[in-house]
Amino acid sequence: MTSTLTNPLRVGLRQERVISPQCLVIFGASGDLTHRKLVPALFELFRQRRLPSEFVILGCARRPWSDDDFRGKMAEALADTIRDHHRDWEQFAGNLYYEPVDLQQSEQLLRLADRLDGLDRLRATRGNRTFYLSVSPDFYGSGCRALADAGLLSDPKRSRVVIEKPFGRDYGSAEKLNRIVRACAQENQVFRIDHYLGKETVQNILVLRFANTIFEPIWNRNFISSVQITAAETVGVEERAGYYESSGALRDMVQNHLTQMLALTTMEAPGRFDPEAIRNEKAKVLQAARLANNEEPWKCCVRGQYSAGGSPSDPFKAYRDEPGVNPNSTTETYVAMKLFIDNWRWQGVPFYLRTGKRLPKRLSEVVLTFREAPVQLFDAAGGSPTANQLILRIQPDEGAGFVFDVKAPGSGMRSRPVDMHFSYDESFGEPSDEGYVRLLADAMLGDPTLYTRADEVEAAWRLYTPLLELIEDSPWRLPVQPYEAGTWGPGAADSLLASDGLMWRRP
Ligand code: BG6
Repeated sequence: MTSTLTNPLRVGLRQERVISPQCLVIFGASGDLTHRKLVPALFELFRQRRLPSEFVILGCARRPWSDDDFRGKMAEALADTIRDHHRDWEQFAGNLYYEPVDLQQSEQLLRLADRLDGLDRLRATRGNRTFYLSVSPDFYGSGCRALADAGLLSDPKRSRVVIEKPFGRDYGSAEKLNRIVRACAQENQVFRIDHYLGKETVQNILVLRFANTIFEPIWNRNFISSVQITAAETVGVEERAGYYESSGALRDMVQNHLTQMLALTTMEAPGRFDPEAIRNEKAKVLQAARLANNEEPWKCCVRGQYSAGGSPSDPFKAYRDEPGVNPNSTTETYVAMKLFIDNWRWQGVPFYLRTGKRLPKRLSEVVLTFREAPVQLFDAAGGSPTANQLILRIQPDEGAGFVFDVKAPGSGMRSRPVDMHFSYDESFGEPSDEGYVRLLADAMLGDPTLYTRADEVEAAWRLYTPLLELIEDSPWRLPVQPYEAGTWGPGAADSLLASDGLMWRRP
């Protein structure tokens, strides 16, 4: 038997996952994402002992904070998390530093370069740097340029840049941004983040499909009749009107998170488990995807916006009454649409995507509905036969379920659907890490598998171009339809499926 230590493959894999001495530089350190997601994820990595001892987080923003100010702000924001982990936090906080930087001021970048050299010497971080652009999307291009001009991206082995979403506003702007980024760094230095790819269950789509033999032979148009992909949220726009008003659900959720779930569900098996092989397949399938009706997109898409709702004890404001929202806003908080993928595997199978804010449940899932049995030998207990469904539950209650028919108990021979289910929590007994934990570790490891490549992001934008153009040029063709906050979206979204004889799953 080969022991773990003498198995060279295992030793190799383990070594690959060790994060090198490192300085993580966060631009936009005074912003929401830093204290809501990034620093908590880094603290979690620290508590899991996955960060090297030579590790530094350098927060950068325009505010004239000191290192201690930054440590204090983070401690305040993470008060609930650190209450039970005080000693860990004390140690972790010693790795936090701060440098006031305006990315638009080149002399400040030169000062930053000096500070980084100083930190390298002080903390032995060996010039390994990951720059995280958590700034306004308007500054992604100029931010990359500023880093490159200051010589901070010149070593492709030691410097990387992570770029938050949204990467562009449409195909043209994404292509332009890619051109700028490419002039500043090599593709393998660029990490375009989509936090859905950090979710355990989104990655599980790949394992479920390609580590088992039972699914792949039926994962195609011969057996699957339709697919639904849902990302439903109970929250409204919260404090983010400034961003959301110019984004809307299509840019905020569909072009990135839902499209990534679509790509993983529909891609071909990669030749090997390596970042480029996987990303090639994702890009390929997205290039084959199209709206069900590119010429008349209003016939296959629905936009909605929440109006007031809730109960007297828990009322919800209308989107237009939320702070910072234009009272006449036509931004959509809900989108539903139908797509096709023109390739051998999926030709003719409809894919229905929907997402919305202020829906009744927080839930993300992919539902594959299989074709009905060719002959109905048994009466269905519920009146009509049910098709088999495989449900990939992305969140909450992460796991998967399979709906199939069994004999209803009793003297007759009637069929009845039952649900077989797998839960991550029950099987593994520990909660999954937040997406950012996995993704930040991967960026610092230089592993881009779960990051979006330039061609993928462009293919995703191209897919929605007819819709974006329609909204831009003739918005009256696809007006936002009101739906009561706390309900499942506008009735037109139900009609979209009803016209194909289907219904949205109501979990
Ligand atoms: C973000 C969007 O990318 O994803 C938010 O900007 C949305 O509007 C969030 O609320 C949803 O993420 P999750 O992980 O809570 O499903």
